[in-house]
This record gives sequence, C-alpha cells and structure tokens, in this order.
Amino acid sequence: MQNREHLVIAIDGHSSCGKSTVAKELAKKLHIAYVDTGAMYRSVTLYALRHGYIKDGKCDVESLEKSFDDIKITFNFNAETGSNCTYLNGEDVESEIRGLEVSGNVSMVSAIPQVRHRLVDWQRAMGNETSLVMDGRDIGTVVFPNAQIKIFMTASDEVRAQRRYDELKAKGQEASFEEVLFNVRERDRIDSTREESPLRKAEDAVLLDNSQMTREEQFQWILDLIDEKTKK
Ligand code: DC
Repeated sequence: MQNREHLVIAIDGHSSCGKSTVAKELAKKLHIAYVDTGAMYRSVTLYALRHGYIKDGKCDVESLEKSFDDIKITFNFNAETGSNCTYLNGEDVESEIRGLEVSGNVSMVSAIPQVRHRLVDWQRAMGNETSLVMDGRDIGTVVFPNAQIKIFMTASDEVRAQRRYDELKAKGQEASFEEVLFNVRERDRIDSTREESPLRKAEDAVLLDNSQMTREEQFQWILDLIDEKTKK
C-alpha cells in the first residue's frame, strides 16, 4: 500500500450495521488510531441526561452549550475490562452509553447544530494530527470530505436489530427485539431527516451492504478497497 503517510478512512452508515467492529479491526491491522464518533455523541447525551438537561425528549441547549468546556471525551485502554473504552471526564462510560436510555436520546442530541459543530471541531483536530479510521454518519460528507477512503455501510433493518439485540443480551441489558427494531428504525429516520448534516452517502463513497456477509468477508472487502485506492 502506498500514500500511507497520512491516511484518513471514513466509515459512515446506518445504525447497528457493524461499522465500529470493522473500523476497530481495520485500525488494529493498519496500526492507526480509531475514533468512534457515535461514542462521542453518546457521551454528550449521557452528560446531558445526568445533568438534567434532557426533559420529555427535549434538550436545554443553552445549558448544554455552556457546559461544553467541562466535557472531556477520551478513548483509552481499560486494564480492568481489557478493552478500549470511552471515557467521559475520566470515567469509563463504555457500557452506559450503549444502554437504551442514551440510545433513545442520542439522535435528538446529535441533531443539535451547536453539539455537531463542537464535536466536528474535535474530530477534525484528531484527524489532522494522526492517521485514523473514523466511523459515524457525516465523516465522509462533512468531517473529512477529502478522506482517501470513504465507505458507506448498511444492512437490512431486521439484520441490524438482531445484531444489536444480541449485543445487549450478551451485556445482560434488558430489551425486547421489537423495542430494539423500533430504536434502530427511529434513529435512521431522525439521522437521515435532520437539517444539520443528515446521514447520506457521499457521492464518492463506496457502498457496502453486509446483510449477507460474514465479518471476515467484509474485512477482506475493505482491505481490497484500500489496496486499490492507495495504489493509484
Ligand atoms: O454509531 P452510533 O449508533 O453509536 O451513533 C449514535 C448516534 O449518534 C446516532 O443515532 C447518530 C449520531 N451520530 C451522528 O449524528 N454523527 C456521527 N458522526 C456519529 C453518530
């Protein structure tokens, strides 16, 4: 592979289609950083919930905006759990940000322009500093429109809900399949119809529908794509 001095790989797509699993694996294989931007929006949502800024599905944007300087999101290895985790002001919140309460509010919080502007600034600063794989909804369209590799991932609603359901079950979190399916569809709807940076495929992104693919097949597909794009 050539042109690897500074590489940005943007992975966007629908919720729960395995973006972060594949992005993590890719970062490990290429020895570059991985940034989960969904975890950043989730962490801001958790902060807002904990501080009482979210009531009846609405967010007190003014109070949240005033708190931006008090929100520090980092990604670090947790020796206790043996995995890379999301930290909110030094606390490992990896498990809590994946729960239904945060999942049920994160699309609303991530549609707030002030939140997006702040997080996009942080994300760009990370990508300007180092090579990375970043996954989210607007990485190829807004955060890094000039990324060398852009992938848009998707899978059928049912396949995605089943994967999410299995993940929650494995973590011992309570949820019914119908609830999870509703959440997946609702997040897609809000993410794709919001005014600020709606989820959409960048024109130059390559589509990857993994409904019928194994993890290994997807991974190889992406490695082949990177090879092809970085050879030019
Ligand atoms: O990838 P995820 O499911 O963890 O993302 C959580 C939410 O954050 C999702 O509903 C949409 C939003 N999001 C976003 O708007 N922009 C991003 N770059 C990443 C996530």
